[in-house]
Amino acid sequence: MSETFQSINPATGDIVWEGQAADEEAVNATVATGRSVFESWRRTDISDREAILKRYAEVVTEQKEQIAKAISDDMGKPMWEARTEAGAMAAKIGHSINAYHERTGDKSGDGFSLSHRPHGVMAVLGPFNFPGHLPNGHIVPSLLAGNTVVFKPSELTPSVAEIMMDCFAKAGLPEGALNLVQGGRETGGALLEAEIDGLLFTGSAKTGTFFHKYFGGRPEVMLALEMGGNNPLIIHEPCDVQAAADIAFMSAFITTGQRCSCSRRLIVPAGEFGDQVIAELMARIEDVTIGQGEDNVFMGPLVSAEAAEAAVDFQTALVASGGKLITELERFGQTGAFVKPGLIDMTKAVSIDEELFGPLLQIYRSGNLDAAFARANDTRFGLAGGLVCDDEHIWAQAQSEMKAGILNWNRPTTGAASSLPFGGPGLSGNHRPSAYYAADYCAWPVASQLSPKAAPPAMVGMK
Ligand code: NAD
Ligand code: SIN
Repeated sequence: MSETFQSINPATGDIVWEGQAADEEAVNATVATGRSVFESWRRTDISDREAILKRYAEVVTEQKEQIAKAISDDMGKPMWEARTEAGAMAAKIGHSINAYHERTGDKSGDGFSLSHRPHGVMAVLGPFNFPGHLPNGHIVPSLLAGNTVVFKPSELTPSVAEIMMDCFAKAGLPEGALNLVQGGRETGGALLEAEIDGLLFTGSAKTGTFFHKYFGGRPEVMLALEMGGNNPLIIHEPCDVQAAADIAFMSAFITTGQRCSCSRRLIVPAGEFGDQVIAELMARIEDVTIGQGEDNVFMGPLVSAEAAEAAVDFQTALVASGGKLITELERFGQTGAFVKPGLIDMTKAVSIDEELFGPLLQIYRSGNLDAAFARANDTRFGLAGGLVCDDEHIWAQAQSEMKAGILNWNRPTTGAASSLPFGGPGLSGNHRPSAYYAADYCAWPVASQLSPKAAPPAMVGMK
């Protein structure tokens, strides 16, 4: 029997959405709908598919305010940031069309042709932290390539998905090309069991690793796993201390630390320069504005009181393993989901190589650059990393040494470019990067060698 669940605004405690979770029967029926529409959608001319998606971008732009409000209500993101996310959803279309043609699409030349075909019915499982932009980043390239889609958003953020469905319908997407199932893990589990041709997932390494095992031995199912990171940021002389502290602050605490690209570990030299960076970072933490909705604030709450509790527990574990608190991540407010950012010195502690999805930055002091690179790479993840340093030779070294699929120089580790691939090695994914390279996992290539007339092939060793 299907169960009712709710979305609760973590900033206010208000119920902002209530509905039924799709059960196994409903999920199977939805996948069957996607299957029944697949043949006609894949045969729809690419120019018509593009036109519908361009119209979708227009509708999303028209409904930007409503989308932003749903994002902010579901997961607590301040409105300025939720509007940026809604803007990125519309901007995705142009990038996806470019990527479709440049990386897939149809090509031909002297004696060959290369075309691409869609897989079939793709399941998209979304995370809560960019509830519109990230599922959209799988859905748009999937539809463009001719797949049909069954979308299950995070159970923490069901609202924006319904508005997205409405935008696609207004854009003229045929019914059944994109389908929504709401619900949590059980609904997601039913989707894994259903007859899908691909699973496009953005979420935690724990869940993604489970899916990797689940689909082990089933190469016919396309699996694209976009997972988390334990991202390092190295600050090294020479550089402007103020700018370095701004970059570190932004990297660690934007979206209340709830971005996969957030810096989790800050590596600064031992000595006076490193002390200055930390003092500047502390000053910014003391000044940070935390609030909700329309307030002119930098940070909102964490997604839930449970997430805030998990952040405090992780901090406690770091202290137990030898970490020294510089400033404590602390919960405050009525709903239990607000936290003040924390800093902890882990230089002499035993590291815990996990992703904490919250605003707690671990500091490591390093004796020299080689030690800084070694520390940066001391992780099973490989998503994002950064170097702040004005010496281009050191940047060249970082590019060759640091293990991260998104590696920035004198820029925050956050703020991904949709015109570039997004993903990294290790526990951060299964080598199917998203964003610009999403086109690659949405289609399979058909490579042909051609001759207009039947002619005998060259044969060696025949009489
Ligand atoms: P999550 O793994 O808890 O959940 C993601 C989705 O998977 C949700 O829809 C959830 O319902 C579903 N799910 C979870 N367990 C399932 C199961 N056993 N069976 C079926 N479905 C299941 O992730 P989250 O907390 O929503 O998102 C935060 C995580 O996402 C962080 O780890 C973050 O780093 C990662 N993330 C990665 C990227 C990237 O592009 N690499 C981007 C954003 C977020
Ligand atoms: C994320 O996808 O979680 C972050 C991407 C970004 O920093 O823009």
